Amino acid sequence: MSVIDDVKQKIDIIDIIGQHITLAKSGRTFRGLCPFHGEKHPSFYVYPEQQSWHCFGCNTGGDVFSFIMKKQGIDFSEALRELAQKAGVTIPSRFEPGAESEEKQKLYQVNQAAALYFHNLLNSPAGEKARNYVDKRGFTAKTVADFQLGYSLNSWEELKKYLTEKGYSEKDMLTAGLLIEPEEGKKSHDRFRNKLMFPIADARGRIIGFGSRVLDDSQPKYINSPQTPIFDKSGNLYALNLAKEAVREQGLAVIVEGYMDVITAHQNGFANVVASMGTSVTERQVNTLKRITKNITLALDADAAGEEAMLRGVEFENALGAEVKVVILPSGKDPDDVIKEDATAWPQLLEKALPVVDFTFDMVASGLDLATAKDKSLAVEKLLPIIAEIKDPIRQAHYLQKLSQLVQVSERSVEAAMSRLKIRPKQAPAAKPKPEAAYLQPLLSNPVEDYCLALLLQHPELKIEDEELPPEYFEGSQNREIFIARQHSAKIEELRDKLDPATHENLDALLGRSLSPNRIAQKYAECTLRLRERYLRGLAAKIEAVLALEAESGGKAADLAKLKEQGVEVNSQLGEVFARKRQWRLEQRG
Ligand code: UTP
Ligand code: MN
Repeated sequence: MSVIDDVKQKIDIIDIIGQHITLAKSGRTFRGLCPFHGEKHPSFYVYPEQQSWHCFGCNTGGDVFSFIMKKQGIDFSEALRELAQKAGVTIPSRFEPGAESEEKQKLYQVNQAAALYFHNLLNSPAGEKARNYVDKRGFTAKTVADFQLGYSLNSWEELKKYLTEKGYSEKDMLTAGLLIEPEEGKKSHDRFRNKLMFPIADARGRIIGFGSRVLDDSQPKYINSPQTPIFDKSGNLYALNLAKEAVREQGLAVIVEGYMDVITAHQNGFANVVASMGTSVTERQVNTLKRITKNITLALDADAAGEEAMLRGVEFENALGAEVKVVILPSGKDPDDVIKEDATAWPQLLEKALPVVDFTFDMVASGLDLATAKDKSLAVEKLLPIIAEIKDPIRQAHYLQKLSQLVQVSERSVEAAMSRLKIRPKQAPAAKPKPEAAYLQPLLSNPVEDYCLALLLQHPELKIEDEELPPEYFEGSQNREIFIARQHSAKIEELRDKLDPATHENLDALLGRSLSPNRIAQKYAECTLRLRERYLRGLAAKIEAVLALEAESGGKAADLAKLKEQGVEVNSQLGEVFARKRQWRLEQRG
């Protein structure tokens, strides 16, 4: 882990910002008067869970580094040094190990009770709209029962009332994430309202959380349980409890992205499918599966996210001690689409899965003219770091041989090049993140940001249009710094000089990443759009959260109107993003 990530992990944004302005707790967020523009009514929010801040008055935001930089008028390096000094502070964690096992039991129980409640509602008159939706998606009654699908009422506290009658405490419902934390002096309320409910179980079948989907096209499409003492999205896999037998029998687990993908797969008899629940697959998820099978196939979509996961393939292989395979879905489709269109296509796709390293070879080679010396050296440059990562010496030797054949250069010279390469990365793996900070990992890794930066750094010909890709789209200050340096210059040496040495490690990693040379401009446009979508979704969610709080606390009408207006604007911009994505999909199909 870089020193920057380490600092970030060890400080709490609330502490730091709280030293500069007065913050008041407001639901799950903190609020105060914006230090960057004059205001009487607070529109400056800090989000402890995301370790970020945003002001709706002047529409700026960022992480703890950008706050300090802006507040003190200092640059990234100075902010980093100042915060590093304070980094003795540990983040107060709800996930500290302790005497919590009794608490956990309570959480499983309250989730179980909620799942049953939602499930019964789906089959009641009140669940008609949700039943229609389930029909529309083509799910059978057996599927609804197997997955314990449910419906949450369009109401603020029906679940709370029901569970209270059943004897559960508000505290348990809050900790389980079933209720949303109230503002001081206000009442808590149901998190899931008017949604199709997907209970999420652990391998033993205990309900640990929920996913939920809107019944129409509104946004956000999915709302999931937050991080709780028993639910950690990056460590769990959806439907593992239902899939584990088939996984064991077939000796293969297939990881897809979404709830719907899993359900459709199971309904069509492909029961060895689990979902990463929207995030890119993590090493912890791979380790969870490892107990059941060592054969894992990732079903990835054709865009940049797939490429990202593929590049982490060797890391997964090392964790598993076995090969990881990859299938790439037809462009613009997810497994749900593929299977619904033609169920026989699924096993055929899986049949064609390639070991992740072979797949990488194909990808790299496809864009090169390997008769030329220049492209040979490019191929080696891209593939060798990946081969160097492979722990298993036999498989490593195999791919070295394959590389030497690919570029028609003696194995000896390829091996020599690898020994030179190995001198550096050998030291790196020592810096493993501490386990207690594991839940923070999503904050520290930003796959799409990293991918976009790698593209920009490795392709000086790519132009940055400030409107298409402003620095705010980069959530991590370190990435933002690198991006701004790239805005100023596409020449690596110039840009490196501008940057703090602490960022060089990350810069080199981005420069060294192996990228497929195909369709660069399109990929750049795609990841730019993904960043824009993420930024807008984040903004929309923040506005929504603020509006909900303000509505309860009777915020000033004028402020509310302004926020609502902002919300409408953001949603219309999101609409444009979706339209563009649809357009691309159509083009790719056609
Ligand atoms: P998709 O948007 O591809 O969803 O997100 P989907 O499952 O194909 O849904 P349908 O077909 O439109 O109904 C893939 C997964 O990412 C997570 C969910 O786990 C989803 O199944 N996700 C997506 C979220 O958690 N939140 C979101 O807002 C969107
Ligand atoms: Mn889908």
